[in-house]
Amino acid sequence: MSKTISHPFLDGRPKRLLIGGEWIEAASGETFDVFNPSTGEVIATVARGGAEDIDRAVAAARAAFEGPWSEWKPFDRQTLMLKIADAIEREFDDLGRLETLDMGAPVARTSLFKRWMLQTLRYYAAQAVSIKGEVLENSVPGSFFSYTVKDPVGVVGGIIPWNGPLITQLWSICPTLATGCTLVLKPAEEAPLSALRLAEIMMEAGLPAGVINIVPGPGHTAGAALAAHPDVDKIAFTGSTATGRKIVEASASNMKTVAVELGGKSPDIVFDDADLDIAIPGAAMACFNNTGQVCYAGTRLFVQRGIHDAFVERLGAFAKTLRVGDATDPQTQLGPLASQAQLDRVNGYLAIAESEGARIVSGGGRPAGAAEGGYYVEPTVVADVSNSMRIAREEIFGPVVSVIPFDTEADAIALANDTDYGLGGGLWTSDVGRAHRVSRKIRTGMVWINCYGVTDPSIPYGSAKMSGYGVKGGPGHIEEYLYKKTVWLRTG
Ligand code: NAI
Ligand code: MG
Repeated sequence: MSKTISHPFLDGRPKRLLIGGEWIEAASGETFDVFNPSTGEVIATVARGGAEDIDRAVAAARAAFEGPWSEWKPFDRQTLMLKIADAIEREFDDLGRLETLDMGAPVARTSLFKRWMLQTLRYYAAQAVSIKGEVLENSVPGSFFSYTVKDPVGVVGGIIPWNGPLITQLWSICPTLATGCTLVLKPAEEAPLSALRLAEIMMEAGLPAGVINIVPGPGHTAGAALAAHPDVDKIAFTGSTATGRKIVEASASNMKTVAVELGGKSPDIVFDDADLDIAIPGAAMACFNNTGQVCYAGTRLFVQRGIHDAFVERLGAFAKTLRVGDATDPQTQLGPLASQAQLDRVNGYLAIAESEGARIVSGGGRPAGAAEGGYYVEPTVVADVSNSMRIAREEIFGPVVSVIPFDTEADAIALANDTDYGLGGGLWTSDVGRAHRVSRKIRTGMVWINCYGVTDPSIPYGSAKMSGYGVKGGPGHIEEYLYKKTVWLRTG
């Protein structure tokens, strides 16, 4: 256990599972280690949840769903959510730093999550009191009154990845609380700590036992058991497309509803009329933010031929200015990757890039002076890439941007859409007509014009093609946690 880290949550005691309001050991008695990606040190051990723990957690969630929680009025749920937000506001500094220690996002990034978390909780709290059905006219002979009501879908399984669990978990926690569902949340083994601490904060704020249960554990055991569980009504999954496919298959066992937000290989197009002073740092950070571990990262950068060479040079120079280092250092702009496995994967793709004949313009190595044991890689610009190379087709999930030249607007659109994925997309231009025209032609859930990666909990966040389905955020999200029931009444 690390002797150098001081954090109130990292007190050396093993962390347990939260099931039915109790902190308990895994049924197997097993634990796993959690590493600080900046140093490679072990900072905590956590109970390793498995299928038996998932069974217990689902039973607790079902009991809570059918118990007193079902009597909570919308106003009561709203009040709880606002109290949780207030508690996060007080506790945030430690919570944000825990995420930094757990998955390696720099404090410069995690500190921005405070506003986002508070806004998300308070936005969904407002929605708790605006759930509504409809009165619908019918034409049935005689006298009948028909209307719809909305009820919570039931027990939800949330499965989240390690690239930003502090905020990702709210995408299932908030709609669960707003609608009166209950949740079994399975964080990734690589970064389970912020979910465990947030659960403590929520319990202190008055969350009833069993409404939210937290079971960290491996995907192939705990995750698979949750996805296949006959008493789970809905799965909300964020992660890779390969695992998303398994989740959808497992859901067929009892016809669960599923929302899957998956991988991406998002296009970012720079036209020769773009303001390059904005487009260069913008396109760089579209890929490098969070050390490239963002599902909608703009990893395929299409640059119009006339500006291509100068653009690549300036992009490479910009990448070199980024400060890579220990995530707890306030000066750090890019932290390490989240795990040794992810570092190996990114280095593997850099080797593939070279073997495919692409040219590493900037980065590609371990940053000078990086702490031994940390999972560091430099932000990397790769040029001479074609859209058919593996590095342009497969999700790398690291700070590696592939630059691909194009000639015409039609070529840019065709290349942008020539991918299995459809999550994010960007374009940089000074021509307002082109901005609207091209944005309509790109088949992705989100398109950003002269910006990238802007999100807000009140604005929908969706995906197309193999990047999944289901919308997060916006007024439609809670609809996925409600089912519509039609009621008929003979009135005469
Ligand atoms: P993953 O998709 O396997 O893991 C995400 C979550 O799913 C974790 O909680 C994991 O425990 C769980 N899981 C794994 N197998 C499962 C199964 N059979 N049933 C139910 N749950 C399961 O991703 P992983 O292995 O952590 O990362 C591998 C690659 O996936 C990354 O290098 C990256 O390319 C991609 N990825 C993409 C993400 C995105 O948001 N687009 C997020 C995480 C990973
Ligand atoms: Mg970790």
